[in-house]
Amino acid sequence: MAHSPSISTAWALCILFCGAYFDTTIDLVAASGSSSSALELEAKTLRDSGWWPSQNASDSSSPCEWYGIICNAGRSVIGIDLGSVTLGSKLKLNFSYLPNLVSLGLSQTNLQGSIPSEIGFLSELTVLDLSYNNLVGFIPPEIGRLSKLTSMYVTFNGLIGNFPPSLTNLTEIEVLDVSSNHLTGFIPNSFGKMSKLVALDLSNNDFTGPIPSSLGLLPNITHLLLSENNFNGSVPKEFGNLSKLIQLNMKGNSFIGPIHSSLLLLTNLTHLLISGNNFNGSVPKELGNLSKLVQLDLKGNNFIGPIPSSLLLLTNLTHLILSGNNFNGSIPKEIGHLSKLIQLDLKGNNFIGPIPSSLPFLTNLTFLDMSSNQFTGFIPSKIGLLKGLVGLDLSDNMLIGQIPSTIGNLTNLQTLFLGRNQINGSIPVQLGSSKKLTHLNLEGNNLTGSISVDQANFQVLEHLLLSNNSLSGNIPHQIGYIRSIKSIGLSHNFLSGEIPFEFWSLPYLNFLDLSYNNLTGKIPDGYRSRTSFALIGNKNLCGNFKGIPPCLATSPAIVSSEKSTRITIFVSIPISFLILFAIGVLLLRRRMVKQTKPSSLERKNGNLFSVWNYDGHIAYEDILKATENFDIRYCIGTGGYGSVYKAELPCGKVVALKKLHQLEAENTTFDKSFQNEVKVLTEIRHRNIIKLHGFCLHKQCMFLVYEYMERGSLFCILRDDTEALELDWNKRVNIIKCTAHALSYMHHECIPAIVHRDISSNNILLNSKFEAFVSDFGTAKLLHLDSSNQTLLVGTYGYIAPELAYTMVVTEKCDVYSFGVVALEILMGIHPGELLTLLSSSSSQNVMLHEILDQRLPPPNHRVAQDICFVATIALACVRTKPESRPTMKRVSQDFVSGNKPLAKPLHAVSLLHLIEDSETQS
Ligand SMILES: *[C@@H]1O[C@H](CO)[C@@H](O)[C@H](O)[C@H]1NC(C)=O
Ligand SMILES: *[C@@H]1O[C@H](CO)[C@@H](O)[C@H](O)[C@H]1NC(C)=O
Ligand SMILES: *[C@@H]1O[C@H](CO)[C@@H](O)[C@H](O)[C@H]1NC(C)=O
Ligand SMILES: *[C@@H]1O[C@H](CO)[C@@H](O)[C@H](O)[C@H]1NC(C)=O
Ligand SMILES: *[C@@H]1O[C@H](CO)[C@@H](O)[C@H](O)[C@H]1NC(C)=O
Ligand SMILES: *[C@@H]1O[C@H](CO)[C@@H](O)[C@H](O)[C@H]1NC(C)=O
Ligand SMILES: *[C@@H]1O[C@H](CO)[C@@H](O)[C@H](O)[C@H]1NC(C)=O
Repeated sequence: MAHSPSISTAWALCILFCGAYFDTTIDLVAASGSSSSALELEAKTLRDSGWWPSQNASDSSSPCEWYGIICNAGRSVIGIDLGSVTLGSKLKLNFSYLPNLVSLGLSQTNLQGSIPSEIGFLSELTVLDLSYNNLVGFIPPEIGRLSKLTSMYVTFNGLIGNFPPSLTNLTEIEVLDVSSNHLTGFIPNSFGKMSKLVALDLSNNDFTGPIPSSLGLLPNITHLLLSENNFNGSVPKEFGNLSKLIQLNMKGNSFIGPIHSSLLLLTNLTHLLISGNNFNGSVPKELGNLSKLVQLDLKGNNFIGPIPSSLLLLTNLTHLILSGNNFNGSIPKEIGHLSKLIQLDLKGNNFIGPIPSSLPFLTNLTFLDMSSNQFTGFIPSKIGLLKGLVGLDLSDNMLIGQIPSTIGNLTNLQTLFLGRNQINGSIPVQLGSSKKLTHLNLEGNNLTGSISVDQANFQVLEHLLLSNNSLSGNIPHQIGYIRSIKSIGLSHNFLSGEIPFEFWSLPYLNFLDLSYNNLTGKIPDGYRSRTSFALIGNKNLCGNFKGIPPCLATSPAIVSSEKSTRITIFVSIPISFLILFAIGVLLLRRRMVKQTKPSSLERKNGNLFSVWNYDGHIAYEDILKATENFDIRYCIGTGGYGSVYKAELPCGKVVALKKLHQLEAENTTFDKSFQNEVKVLTEIRHRNIIKLHGFCLHKQCMFLVYEYMERGSLFCILRDDTEALELDWNKRVNIIKCTAHALSYMHHECIPAIVHRDISSNNILLNSKFEAFVSDFGTAKLLHLDSSNQTLLVGTYGYIAPELAYTMVVTEKCDVYSFGVVALEILMGIHPGELLTLLSSSSSQNVMLHEILDQRLPPPNHRVAQDICFVATIALACVRTKPESRPTMKRVSQDFVSGNKPLAKPLHAVSLLHLIEDSETQS
């Protein structure tokens, strides 16, 4: 995964500058002295802010003693630094009373409201840091009066409007960071006036238009970050003047044209990141002159031609990313010179020829992706030298021969994708040495022999995908002992024998496709509901299972099948879509028992609970008794982090218990995730967010006690034909609206804002009235606590916002995307995977709305059709590729409250294109 250096580097730079400028200014100001009434006014405005709660009106201490305040020798306030203190209020200082303020640092303080124009009174200000807050409204043009300002950070707020032209009056400014807001419009051409700029970060906004040539007038600039906007046009030739430029990031815009010759003069560049634009032409050989380049990212453009040999002189490169272009030719053998390479990504081009034999000399390679090209020949056995490899993807090529046994030398490997080649031979037993493998995908080859998988080796394997090969023999029982396994895909092979009974108790298994083999035997009862299991096309299987003939009482083992006509949906959808469909929480019917106060029950063994909220009367033993020591019979589902049990407490109340397994409870990430969930849940109250009754935190047993949801997860309901019918159009629209309200509450009313991070149909539970409740905050994280918001990828495949794949920066907009996917899923009755691909390819104009609606339900009447169009319009806006152009959940929620406009056309005449255009005119 390419890691984005831009923001964090600029950030480090900023800290440096703040420090430096701060020191030099203190003495200057100290000399000026202040009258005592001015000091009183300073103290008054600070006290009135309420930011120092222990300093009340009657307190007469000097602010110089308070936390985060710096004074000069005349005891006048020159610095306020409350970074990371939760204030949660408006920026309500009376700035005219703080005439000597040099530095104002309020980063991550949960500031609300807008930046007051009075900030222009701070004529001595050199450092202004308002980053990572909830500020809204405009950047006041009055900031342009702060003629001494050297650094300004407003990144990660909700600021809107244009870049005020007056800001270019800041002729002393060296660091200017307005990234990650919603700023729009053009960049003023007067930028050249800020000639001392060293770092400029405009990334992650909605700026449009071309880059003004005046940016070429910034002689000292080292970091220029323009990524994720709507900039267009070509690179101005004046960029050639930016001789000190070290990092240039133009990712994710609409720039056009070839790599401009001016860029080839920037020999100080270490990072040239221009992925996700419309650049074209071939890569000029002079790029090889940029000898300090460490990261070169050309992904997702229209580049053509071969890799120029001069590129192979860039021996400092650690990341070379060429994927998603039209590059062709073969890979020069000199690639072996790039010995520092960590990531080599050639995916999705037209490269031909063999895997170069010099490749295995890149011993620092961690990620190698050559998938979706036309590479031919064998996988070199020297690949075993790449001992640092964590991810290897050679899928979708034309590779032949066997998988070399040296693959077992790759002991750090976590993902191995060799699918859809023409590989034959057997699966090498040496693969078992790759003990860290989580994903093994060899599907679509011609592998033969039996599956030799030993659980002793594959202890963390999650996805085992070997479908569409010629594998034979029995399915080894050992696979059933790999507790971590989530998907098993073995369809379209020649496997025989019975399904190992261990499979039926794998706790995380949510995708099992054994269809089209020669399997025999009886499927145990109790697995009817797991619709993500496909077993058809095995003539001699029987059981109480969709698409499988029932077992005859006399001969339970072997029954001939004529009735396997119902094809489960999983056969027709590409397997990759399904891998991570979590099974969700299957919940049973709740007995409506009036809650009686448990008066006689005493809290026993109290020290077992570090915290316990539920009435304070229920003991650990009660939980044990109610679930017979967490007996499997009470288990109603398994999710990513644990199993869910149904328990009837002695007081009669039925609750859902989410319990972590011993294994995970010892693991600190699970521990952290559990604590996260507890923390988030105890702090929020919303009618569409699942209620937490209590919890137990103990190293031997960790569980949460939730409100019980009779209808279980939306995922399961949509996949069950009977239940899906019960979920009529009105209920569906209602579920979408309630989910929107819950998310809006989390994003905009919780302090700090909560990003759920894993919105999917699994995590929306329904009560007996089919009302929606958002659940599973296992991965939710308080944005506030994490200064960078850069984390490992979490979420459910198929619902993850596309930008997360390359930025790893989690924002509310990721939830908005996932919400859009869920909303479409509710309307369509199935996951909109293919539709999403279609939407991004602009061929959606021919798709009519009524064609994608869930065909199991009768067509909606006119009034409901109105609702559906409205909801679909919003859902389509939520799944826009660019996070900036998605609406906020607040906007969505408000739109739902204010209602829809009347439908002008009959439903059958409404196309998706029409809805997309509609949503664009509305926003
Ligand atoms: C910016 O400078 C121009 C002249 O260079 C001046 O006319 C304008 O008033 C200034 N704007 C602010 C906000 O100070
Ligand atoms: C650029 O930086 C150099 C050295 O730090 C400094 O002397 C020079 O004044 C700066 N140029 C501008 C236009 O600020
Ligand atoms: C690279 O940057 C240094 C200072 O940062 C500067 O002196 C030098 O001229 C630059 N190199 C080129 C080729 O402009
Ligand atoms: C690699 O980078 C270092 C440090 O920036 C530089 O001194 C060296 O010349 C570079 N290597 C090449 C081949 O240019
Ligand atoms: C490979 O990485 C290690 C550790 O990061 C580093 O010390 C070594 O110099 C690198 N090797 C090459 C050839 O760059
Ligand atoms: C793989 O490892 C074995 C033993 O650890 C070693 O003998 C063999 O040479 C290695 N092969 C490669 C290609 O690294
Ligand atoms: C797969 O391999 C087997 C045995 O090597 C061979 O008989 C068969 O023709 C191959 N199938 C394909 C599609 O190449």
